Amino acid sequence: MSYLKALNIQKFYGSRKILSNLSFTVEKGEVVIIEGPSGAGKTTLLNIISGIDLPDGGRVLLDGMNITRMSEDERARVRLKKIGIIFQSSALIEDLNVMENIALPLKLAGRKWKERVFDLLKYFGIEHLKYSYPESLSGGEKQRVEIARALANEPEILIADEPTSNLDDDNARNLVALLRKINRETGTSIIIATHDVRLKNLEGKRYLLKEGRLYER
Ligand SMILES: Nc1ncnc2c1ncn2[C@@H]1O[C@H](COP(=O)(O)OP(=O)(O)OP(=O)(O)O)[C@@H](O)[C@H]1O
Ligand SMILES: [Mg+2]
Repeated sequence: MSYLKALNIQKFYGSRKILSNLSFTVEKGEVVIIEGPSGAGKTTLLNIISGIDLPDGGRVLLDGMNITRMSEDERARVRLKKIGIIFQSSALIEDLNVMENIALPLKLAGRKWKERVFDLLKYFGIEHLKYSYPESLSGGEKQRVEIARALANEPEILIADEPTSNLDDDNARNLVALLRKINRETGTSIIIATHDVRLKNLEGKRYLLKEGRLYER
C-alpha cells in the first residue's frame, strides 16, 4: 500500500480554485518532485499533505490513517512523528542555538535527544556550529540545520518546499547530493516542490502542477 495517498483534493481561496480534484500517491523510499510556476499551488498542496492545512474536498491518507478527519492536535502529533518539513523560508528558532533547534522535535515527542542530536550534527558536518545561533549561520549552514531538525524523529517522509531558493549554485548542488544521500541511506521518501532548474539533476518522479492539477512528466 502506498505510504501517502492524496485523493481528489480540492482547495479554494475565496472563490478561486487552487487545487482541482488532484490525486497522487507516494511510496516508501520514493523521491517526488513537484514543479510548477509561482502561484501554482505547490505550497498549498504540501501544507495539505502534511496536515498543516485541510482541503475543502478529498482526503489524505498517511500510513493508512485519514488525517483529514483528525483534529488539529492529532494532525500535529502525527506530523511530528511521521513527517519532516523544510519550509520555504527559514523556520529556525532564533532564540535557540543549533543543538537546541535540532533537539526540539525530539523533546516535543518526549524522546531522549542527546545522542540523536549528536549523530545528526555529525552526519551533516555541523558539529562545530552546535552553540551558534541561526542569525550567525550562512544560508547553506542554516539549510543543513533545517534538514537535521526535520529528520530528528526519523520521519518516513521529508517534505521540502523550494529548498534551494536562498542558496547559491554550490550550496544548491550540495543540497541535491545531500537529499540523494538521505534517501539512499535512510529510505526516507522525499517530496520536493520547486521551480529551480538547478534541481533538474535530482532523480525522482516528476510532476507538473498546473491549473490545479498534477501532470506526470
Ligand atoms: N492563505 C491564503 N489566502 C488566500 N490566497 C492564498 C493563500 N495562500 C495562498 N494563496 C494563493 O493561492 C495560490 C497558490 O499559492 P501557493 O503558495 O500554494 O503557490 P506556490 O506554487 O507555492 O508558489 P511559489 O512558487 O511562489 O511558492 C497563490 O495565488 C496565492 O496567492
Ligand atoms: Mg510556495
